[in-house]
Amino acid sequence: MAQIRSINISPALINTACAWASSYDQLKALYSSPFTGAVTTRTSTLKGYNESSSCGVVFTSSSTSSLNSYGYSPRPLSAYLGWVKEIVSETISSSNGKPLPVKPFIISITACSTEELKSMIGLIQDLRATPTFASLIAIELNTSCPNVSSTSPSGYVPDSIRPLLQTLAEAHMRDKSLTIGLKLPPYTFRGQFDAMISLLREFNYEDGDTGRQNCFAFLTCTNTLGNSLLFPDQVTEAMTIPEAKIAPDFAVPTVTGGLAGEAIHALSLGNVYTFRRHLDDEDDGLRGISIIGVGGVTSPAALSRMTKAGASVVGVATLLGKEGVKAFEILSAQI
Ligand SMILES: Cc1cc2nc3c(=O)[nH]c(=O)nc-3n(C[C@H](O)[C@H](O)[C@H](O)COP(=O)(O)O)c2cc1C
Repeated sequence: MAQIRSINISPALINTACAWASSYDQLKALYSSPFTGAVTTRTSTLKGYNESSSCGVVFTSSSTSSLNSYGYSPRPLSAYLGWVKEIVSETISSSNGKPLPVKPFIISITACSTEELKSMIGLIQDLRATPTFASLIAIELNTSCPNVSSTSPSGYVPDSIRPLLQTLAEAHMRDKSLTIGLKLPPYTFRGQFDAMISLLREFNYEDGDTGRQNCFAFLTCTNTLGNSLLFPDQVTEAMTIPEAKIAPDFAVPTVTGGLAGEAIHALSLGNVYTFRRHLDDEDDGLRGISIIGVGGVTSPAALSRMTKAGASVVGVATLLGKEGVKAFEILSAQI
């Protein structure tokens, strides 16, 4: 079990934002699994993302790894909030007065401007205004999708996300029960960790009740590793994207994409470990930030490694894509 501010995640195992958390049916199945402690929605934007036909995912034949070329969800944030409301309401009405089996949703969002982000926070806060939902909804700002050709993942350029973080921080200061996290890209050298920590330091504040706090409650480390390339003979044929015919020499039609699964496990563990260690060296505000560890969690042993590296909650995408929600049962088996 993990408590991240107002959000209780039990068990401390969740799906992360991905193509398999995209529709009502997928979210309902994730929510209904006794092996998930919370559900993360696929990253949405205010109006929906214009998804091209070259978006897709392939799995490698030699390990449980994936390469994907997806951007954000074509569904707007309002669709996800409607589904969240429906799923929680259905769960409550079917509980027949027994203790409520409700679990939180982490709503993954991204925005190009502070105006767009403000509108999105407004929609989320409208849902949280209903008492049942106040402690069931957290926000995760995705700063790390490597597959949007017009932009670099903003998490690699911390100064560029300061205005978005200020907007989120203002929302948190207006309502301190609002739990907010950042989805970060995989970092490979010390300066990248330092830059993000120094940005987060700007969002520390003194709270009369709880002492020194930070506006951000959690970091989700890591997203996929961008600019990765696989050839068709490295992936399972069944999962090859039909559009790959456009570029038959490569496994995904965009040629490069985001690498995930076992192939990035060591890098993700290193990111979780490094952030945890650096945050623990800081004051109470930064020390209070939790880490959701994700990247190559494909076995109970890998899950245990993520926890040992410093994750309070462990997240999964590639294994979910391969196994469906059974993935969480597989990961929950005793080692
Ligand atoms: C097909 C696919 C789609 C993804 N879509 C998103 C997304 O919408 N938002 C996001 O923050 N991360 C997204 N991710 C990244 C995952 O949440 C996760 O960070 C990454 O895949 C590493 O975890 P894994 O090794 O368990 O796959 C996606 C990953 C995959 C494989």
